[in-house]
Amino acid sequence: MSPLKKELLIAPSILSANFAALGDNITRVEAAGARIIHLDVMDGHFVPNISFGPGVVKAVNGITQLPLDTHLMIEKPDRYLEAFRDAGADILTVHAEACTHLHRTISRIKELGMHAGVSLNPATSLTAVEEVLPMLDLVLIMSVNPGFGGQQFIPSSIQKIRTLAMMIDDCRSGAMIEVDGGIDASTIQSVIGAGAHYLVAGNAVFGNGNIETNFSHLHSLTLTRT
Ligand code: DX5
Ligand code: ZN
Repeated sequence: MSPLKKELLIAPSILSANFAALGDNITRVEAAGARIIHLDVMDGHFVPNISFGPGVVKAVNGITQLPLDTHLMIEKPDRYLEAFRDAGADILTVHAEACTHLHRTISRIKELGMHAGVSLNPATSLTAVEEVLPMLDLVLIMSVNPGFGGQQFIPSSIQKIRTLAMMIDDCRSGAMIEVDGGIDASTIQSVIGAGAHYLVAGNAVFGNGNIETNFSHLHSLTLTRT
C-alpha cells in the first residue's frame, strides 16, 4: 500500500451533514473539490454521543470514489477493524485512550490493508504515540473534546501540533498530521502554520450557508498564507 501523500486537504466531516440527504451532501462537497471524506463513528461509551457504524460507511463507499477517512471514537476498536475494512474504510484511526495494546491494533489495521491512524484527546500527551510513530500513517490531534460537532477550538492544540511535527521529523516517520475540531476560517491558517496536513471541518462546511461556498472558502484559505 502506497504511503499517504503529504498535502493540505480539507476533510469534510459528515457528522454535521444532513443525514436525511447524506448522498446529496457528499456529492455536493465532492463536486466543490473535496478529495477525502471524514467519517466520525461514535459508540456512546468512549464519547457521550452515538453517530453511525459500518453500515453507513459502506453506503458512503457506494456513492463516492473518495478515500474514506474513518475516525473511530469507540471502546475496544479491535472488535470492529475488519467490519470497517469490509465497509470500505481507507484510513482507520483509533484513539490511543481506547486501546490497551496500541501496537497490536495498529499492526492489525495495516495487515487488513488500511492506512493506520491514532488519535489523541486534548488531555492526552504526545508521549502516548511516541513509541509507535514510525509505524503510523497518520496522527489525529483532537482540538476539541470528541463527541460533538460545532465546538470551540482549544488554542493549546497549536503547540501540540508543532511539537508533533518535530517528533515526526526526528524519527523520519511518514505520518500525516490531521487536526479535528473547531476548524473554521478563523483557526485554519494557524493550524496549517503549525504543521497540519489534513484539516477536518464539519460545521464550517455543512453548517450554516451553502456547502459549495463554505468548502471553497475554506479551501481558498489553505492556498493563501497570512
Ligand atoms: C468531533 C468529531 C469531529 C467533528 C468536527 O468529535 O471527531 O470530526 O465532526 O466538527 P467541527 O468541525 O464542527 O468542530
Ligand atoms: Zn473526527
